[in-house]
Amino acid sequence: MSTNPREAAGAVAGARDGAAHGGSGDEVRRGERFAFGENWSRFLEVLDEDRIREAERSLQDMLGMQRLDGLSFLDVGSGSGLFSLAAWRLGARVRSFDYDSRSVATTREMRRRYGRDDESWVVEEGSVLDRVYLGGLGKFDIVYSWGVLHHTGSMWEAMANVVPQVGGGGQLFIALYNDQGLVSRFWAGVKRLYCSGWPGRMFVIPVFFAIFAAAGLASDLLGGRNPLARYSEYRRKRGMSLTHDWLDWLGGYPYETAKPGDVFDFFSGRGFTLRKLVTRASLGCNEFVFHRETEAGCGHGASAGRAEP
Ligand SMILES: C[S@@+](CC[C@H](N)C(=O)[O-])C[C@H]1O[C@@H](n2cnc3c(N)ncnc32)[C@H](O)[C@@H]1O
Repeated sequence: MSTNPREAAGAVAGARDGAAHGGSGDEVRRGERFAFGENWSRFLEVLDEDRIREAERSLQDMLGMQRLDGLSFLDVGSGSGLFSLAAWRLGARVRSFDYDSRSVATTREMRRRYGRDDESWVVEEGSVLDRVYLGGLGKFDIVYSWGVLHHTGSMWEAMANVVPQVGGGGQLFIALYNDQGLVSRFWAGVKRLYCSGWPGRMFVIPVFFAIFAAAGLASDLLGGRNPLARYSEYRRKRGMSLTHDWLDWLGGYPYETAKPGDVFDFFSGRGFTLRKLVTRASLGCNEFVFHRETEAGCGHGASAGRAEP
């Protein structure tokens, strides 16, 4: 697992082929990976129009475009498929992939329920660490990977792998966990313990649920707020339940983090210019939108990857 940007070049040199990434199920069974897809299958049941509009607004705001008509959009690690749906509704031709077969199934269901099974939106299973697979996708006007690359087990390699997918004049929108030093290392240990098997989960869940609940109660009482409101209002705010998100946080492994400056240097050195940055002073995700300079013979939108297979 590479832990800093300087190791990425070496990681790329030793890039893996398609056979090395058969699927996430075995890794979950070996205790090396969180079953991300299970959480996403529950998400569909609580999805509503407000949440979809919020996803559209987030793309419009970060990409600085009201519509994506005629553009190709690659969703790397689509999870529920919500942001693929948002891009498709904004007019893009979309290609979504995820490493977890249940995430893929949920994205397909999203496409069926809300996307009319439209042929301009393709959903499939694949890994951002699989360079053979990526090589067949071509280039895209927008490459989107929110909260994914740090869950691959090889974050800097994954970052290097998305570079060739961005067409000349295209945009790369990624979100990565903020590096909080020792605190981040602590949480990596908790997540590893959670995924190691049921004894780990039996320890982590009650201990941290109690800590989270007590911290929330203390903060509400000190702030003069109703302590029950945080549970009832959370679903309205994020579309998920607070306890699902606690589980997602406790189990979200593999887990790596990055300092904004390192991410900036990494992509600046590969022909990208930072257009928008949202940083967090916490454990959350920093968001980056990079623009790729136009390459000779690769005009914006003209040769960018097709969304069709
Ligand atoms: C926290 S979720 C984010 C989902 C979505 N991008 C979003 O913003 O809602 C992380 C997703 O990354 C996927 N993932 C992890 N490793 C991956 C890999 N090597 N290739 C593609 N997807 C991967 C997981 O299966 C999971 O669905």
